[in-house]
Amino acid sequence: MAARSLTKFVFSKNSANLVKNACSAQNVRLFSAQANYEFIKVSKAGAKNNVGVITLNRPKALNALCNGLMTELSNALVEFEGDGSVGAIVITGSEKAFAAGADIKEMQNNTFAKNVSANFLEHWNKVARTYKPVIAAVNGYALGGGCELAMMCDIIYAGENAKFGQPEILIGTIPGAGGTQRLPRYVGKSKAMEIVLTGNQVNAQEAEKMGLAAKVFPADKLVDEAVKLGEKISANSQLIVKLAKESVNAAFETTLAQGLLFEKRLFHATFATKDRQEGMTAFVEKRPPNFTNE
Ligand code: CAA
Repeated sequence: MAARSLTKFVFSKNSANLVKNACSAQNVRLFSAQANYEFIKVSKAGAKNNVGVITLNRPKALNALCNGLMTELSNALVEFEGDGSVGAIVITGSEKAFAAGADIKEMQNNTFAKNVSANFLEHWNKVARTYKPVIAAVNGYALGGGCELAMMCDIIYAGENAKFGQPEILIGTIPGAGGTQRLPRYVGKSKAMEIVLTGNQVNAQEAEKMGLAAKVFPADKLVDEAVKLGEKISANSQLIVKLAKESVNAAFETTLAQGLLFEKRLFHATFATKDRQEGMTAFVEKRPPNFTNE
């Protein structure tokens, strides 16, 4: 991540190293409660520190999504949800890998009975249930669970070197964290079938063309661009952003008639908020709005 938007708040198990690396930036502060992450790095970025950034940090396994990593990711999302200063969250990985999937070594000896009794992978859903907007900034491999993790986010930005795929079929299984359900919703049945049934990877340009990625950027600009997007979202009323996100998500869960009614009622409901009043008043008075999330 470029220094401009870098991290004023850094928390990680390797906090000493991070401080060494990031300390050239001023205002680095460590939070002891957050100092025990092993598989992720958590920071805040943007000129107003209003974008939470979670960096998957398990380089030796190409960010394979082991249970510990996903538990930490869920915890970090909960922290950012509870942080009123954060209006959007970016999840990213390394230049080589966003994430190469669920941890194959960890699940190699699982049984059907064990998977069912532990409801294996159920806790991954926290990513999709996070109420603040989540942006996936994908460089390198986003395979299997990595692609599924990106699709759980609200917006996918891809680096030019990104490679998306659902290669589970090549190891004798199928996607288990939304690949067969979310991918068709992003790209339609034919392309989803091709990807899921062959394990073929698609590059960033193809992913953008098929609607999986919203935009493509040079790899070294990707996180900055995702943070900029997060800043833009954070400048709006968090209250209204939440309603807008819920309304778009309803499009994937309801009939058109139900969705339109849901949207209409939420639109009506915005008229009970101070931020709707402020937004329209500011427009009429030709000044920027001052949203208070009420
Ligand atoms: N799980 C566990 N370890 C993984 C992993 C994964 N998904 N992906 C990579 N790694 C490990 C490798 O085992 C290797 O570790 P060692 O050095 O200890 O051997 C290390 O990461 C580096 O990987 P490679 O040497 O394979 O790197 P590469 O550059 O040659 O290849 C790759 C990169 C094409 C991504 C290749 O690693 C690969 O194919 N990974 C597996 C991808 C995959 O099948 N993902 C789906 C997993 S199943 C799933 O996700 C189910 C679900 O729906 C939730």
